[in-house]
Amino acid sequence: MRPIEEIVALSPVIPVVVLDAPQDAVPLAQALLAGGIGVIEITLRTPQALAAAAAIARSGLDIALGIGSVLDDRQLAAARDAGADFVVTPGTPPMLAQALAQARKADGLPALPGAATASEMLALRSLGFSHLKFFPAEPAGGAAYLKAMAGPLPDLRFCPTGGIDLAKAKSYLALPNVPCVGGSWLVPESAIRARDWASIAANAAETLAALR
Ligand code: 3PG
Repeated sequence: MRPIEEIVALSPVIPVVVLDAPQDAVPLAQALLAGGIGVIEITLRTPQALAAAAAIARSGLDIALGIGSVLDDRQLAAARDAGADFVVTPGTPPMLAQALAQARKADGLPALPGAATASEMLALRSLGFSHLKFFPAEPAGGAAYLKAMAGPLPDLRFCPTGGIDLAKAKSYLALPNVPCVGGSWLVPESAIRARDWASIAANAAETLAALR
């Protein structure tokens, strides 16, 4: 397993995707790779999400597979069994944080546990989590809020997600505590429905060029 430090360094943006059809998963991952993006987060928002994620895991493509909005230890186990390279939570109550810490210890499974307040961030830091998802980034205070956290919490790194677009991504990525952002804007559901893999690849390449 790649450690979380390597995963967040793969791309300045983690595409957060909603997939209805497992057969779309591999072409989508190939399109992102063709555009230069080597990481993806599949959200557990559709009945077929785990099957879609498992198809990417089985494909052998060199893409870091995240499974997101893991809400409890049952979903954590399912994500691990589907072949996740990392898991993401929107918020991280103590029992879920313990389950993530246990999965890290037992299986080496990296996580981006979600947090929105200094207290939540400190609780995760005390369990050894160095990289957190800041969610929901824009409604919770945006780049200015995260910049304020860099003073008292200089060793934590964040992947802000929620309400981010290309312009906002730039202001987050200018912060010392943000190696990458997450966002669904990069892979619109309409493009997936149309199976427009070429436009997804082009969009990924343009986004990378704009952010690097
Ligand atoms: C998530 O699940 O992480 C967010 O819903 C993605 O946020 P966005 O759709 O605002 O980019």
